[in-house]
Amino acid sequence: NDQLALPVGITLDRFIMRNEADFPFATGELSQLLRDIALAGKIVNRDINRGGLSDISGQFGSQNIQGEHQLKLDVIANIRFIRALKNGGEVCAIISEEDTELIPTGNNKAKYIVAIDPLDGSSNIDANVSVGTIFSIYRRVTPTGTVPTIGDALQKGDMQVAAGYILYGSSTMLVYTTGRGVNGFTYDYSLGEFFLSHPQIRTAPVGNIYSCNEGNMDDFPVAVQQYLHKCREQRLIGRYIGSLVGDFHRNLLKGGVYLYPATLKNPEGKLRLMYECFPLAYIVEQAGGAACDGKRRILDIMPDSMHQRAPLYIGSAKMVEDIYSLHFTHA
Ligand code: AHG
Ligand code: MN
Ligand code: MN
Ligand code: MN
Repeated sequence: NDQLALPVGITLDRFIMRNEADFPFATGELSQLLRDIALAGKIVNRDINRGGLSDISGQFGSQNIQGEHQLKLDVIANIRFIRALKNGGEVCAIISEEDTELIPTGNNKAKYIVAIDPLDGSSNIDANVSVGTIFSIYRRVTPTGTVPTIGDALQKGDMQVAAGYILYGSSTMLVYTTGRGVNGFTYDYSLGEFFLSHPQIRTAPVGNIYSCNEGNMDDFPVAVQQYLHKCREQRLIGRYIGSLVGDFHRNLLKGGVYLYPATLKNPEGKLRLMYECFPLAYIVEQAGGAACDGKRRILDIMPDSMHQRAPLYIGSAKMVEDIYSLHFTHA
């Protein structure tokens, strides 16, 4: 039987233990934190899978700080992750797309801060399209034992200790980096475990996919319009789900570029620097790709507010560099 010939899989827990233990000064707290996130991910995965049965799709009735109508699952996923992170004890504060202010956990002795997009692509959920969770982890700046401040969260992208996402797709995956490459794990429902399925993911230097919301084309900067024109001349493949995690993950594996430029409606870009751009930029660079906002490398940006937005060009390094150069030609 072919199934039995498969090697025994490495579980996420085992992988984390093996790989994070040999970090300098490792005390096991980061490992525990990653496991807490994975556990919350399993719970949210269950909520999402039962979506149609448990009346959790549709609107919650309130708006978040982003000016978006919160969907029930946005709120539920947010509660799940915050609860898991509070109970886990390794995090002193959380910033979330769904919450206006920094959320202190009460664990002032903890040394980590988490930034989270609890449910990404939530406008797709009613149509049973893939959604995700995106997270990034920082070390606090203020001394442990004190009450964390917003300054602990507002750090340059380069300061991330770890970043990852969970994709609730045709299969559920967790992909993360702690700065030593990117590894992907697939969830086995029958066993309730994530197994290493995509070790050391590398993204192609050039791919043949481009992903953007072409409905906004007329608002895009000239440089981007020109780039997209070239993509079409070359008969590249256009793919856009509208769930950033899904679009990013596909391009990471297959090679390609994702673009969310500034538009009239969103002059700063739409995507959130701290919950979306930073974590994915860290992952893409760790996989050999690149990310910029048209002018700067994403990870070089110093945020001034937690809900700040940025244009995003991310994916295969050569494609991102081409977009970057075109911005200068048209500056
Ligand atoms: P979120 O659901 O977390 O608010 O994020 C929505 C984001 C992202 O997932 C997606 O790629 C993008 O919005 C799509 O925007 P458009 O609908 O403007 O294309
Ligand atoms: Mn949202
Ligand atoms: Mn999002
Ligand atoms: Mn979201």
